[in-house]
Amino acid sequence: MSAPSLSTKRLRLRQWKDSDLSFFSKMNADARVMEYFPSTLSKEASDSLAEKIQKELREKEYGLWAVELTGVVPFIGFAGLHYQDFPAAFTPCIEIGWRLAYEHWGKGYAFEAAEKVVEYAFNTLKLKELVSFTTPDNKRSWSLMEKLGMTHNPDDDFYHTRLPKDHPLGFHVLYRLKNKHSSQLSLRE
Ligand SMILES: CC(C)(COP(=O)(O)OP(=O)(O)OC[C@H]1O[C@@H](n2cnc3c(N)ncnc32)[C@H](O)[C@@H]1OP(=O)(O)O)[C@@H](O)C(=O)NCCC(=O)NCCS
Repeated sequence: MSAPSLSTKRLRLRQWKDSDLSFFSKMNADARVMEYFPSTLSKEASDSLAEKIQKELREKEYGLWAVELTGVVPFIGFAGLHYQDFPAAFTPCIEIGWRLAYEHWGKGYAFEAAEKVVEYAFNTLKLKELVSFTTPDNKRSWSLMEKLGMTHNPDDDFYHTRLPKDHPLGFHVLYRLKNKHSSQLSLRE
């Protein structure tokens, strides 16, 4: 089963289209968007990331949806869920994540998309918990986590194993959100 489209007041979260790829690579080449990632992405790296994202969204009931400003802008970025199993105390887990083109920041779109994703994750998928993580300097991202009601316990913070230990972006803060209505563990790998 592939992931269904989700709609909010202003947004549509949907499967990706080939026409999204050029917008996605432009966004991934923008140093402002990629400030808290190790580097910006080449067109090849962006297309390869998009392929991985599309695969998860096609093969599972969730993934990182392409986000459309309904009837106005065909692609403003992505938001959604991603299965993570890199070595860490809190994995395997399902992460909630987001990345929007710079011109669409500051309008509440990331929050609006993320709220819908949380509702889907907890009410439809019946997941027990979502996590999210970022580097401490990425205030926009952890503010969004806090707006969603996610909580931070410093004991959960970690060095990302995909980066060298002394990398300036290696240290991450972890936020969690528990599904208060779920007593069943359903990780849905
Ligand atoms: C992280 C990211 C998605 C956050 O985007 P964002 O637009 O700041 O997030 P929100 O949707 O929560 O919007 C909040 C802002 O919208 C404003 N806003 C305007 N209209 C609004 C509305 N109708 N509803 C809610 N907020 C609104 C808020 O006041 C707030 O403004 P402020 O940033 O000046 O305080 C974005 O910065 C991004 O894509 N960053 C690069 C990728 C990245 O780092 N991803 C995370 C990796 S861990």
